Amino acid sequence: MSVVALVPAAGRGVRLGGSVPKALVPIRGEPLLVHAVRGLLASGCVHAAVVAAPASDVDVAAGALAAAGVDAQVVPGGPNRTQSVRLALHAAGDPTIVLVHDAARAFTPAEVIKAVVAAVSAGVPAVIPVLPVADTVKRVDPAGVVLNTPDRSELRIVQTPQGFSADVLRRAYDAYPDDTTTDDAGLVERLGVPVATVPGHAYAMKITTPFDLAIAESVLS
Ligand code: C5P
Repeated sequence: MSVVALVPAAGRGVRLGGSVPKALVPIRGEPLLVHAVRGLLASGCVHAAVVAAPASDVDVAAGALAAAGVDAQVVPGGPNRTQSVRLALHAAGDPTIVLVHDAARAFTPAEVIKAVVAAVSAGVPAVIPVLPVADTVKRVDPAGVVLNTPDRSELRIVQTPQGFSADVLRRAYDAYPDDTTTDDAGLVERLGVPVATVPGHAYAMKITTPFDLAIAESVLS
């Protein structure tokens, strides 16, 4: 059973500021992307990684990974996350299980990665790590006026890696070639395939803002 991780890392990361793509922003001296791919491979249950890097920075991303001794194939990403995943999937060969993991979730603990792979290995076609919602959530209209208050006990925050049997993920990407509105699990849901959940982890946070970067520098490793 071969497990390949696809790592969409082609975002510009404008919310993080600065001129380098987000995946190449250093934390503790190494780019986010290096931390993310190293974590996947170090979990012991991922056999290979395919990174979708910004098209203008494929060589830089590949060089950073190689310099860190982290083995990954790097391909040019697309104009949005879905297209980047599609391009990485195309380059992934013929694995049994595919994980899709945001480079921005660079410090995801091995226990989360292992739980996702274990679920798909056990026959679950699609699985996502989730956290309960700590805050009250409101639905609002375009003017910002509250419409209603969803029952937060039914809501979950979604993290990555999302795990799939490879044929299910390929089927989803083939069925919705132009869709960029949702995540990978969202495409699979539309096929009518059940998506299971496993517990996520606070350390699997998506590093998006300068505040997140400061947290990553000081807390995560
Ligand atoms: O922009 P957002 O934070 O939602 O991006 C989530 C992940 O998707 C990031 O790791 C980012 O690098 C990746 N992405 C990508 N290709 C794009 C846009 C985003 O691989 N064109």
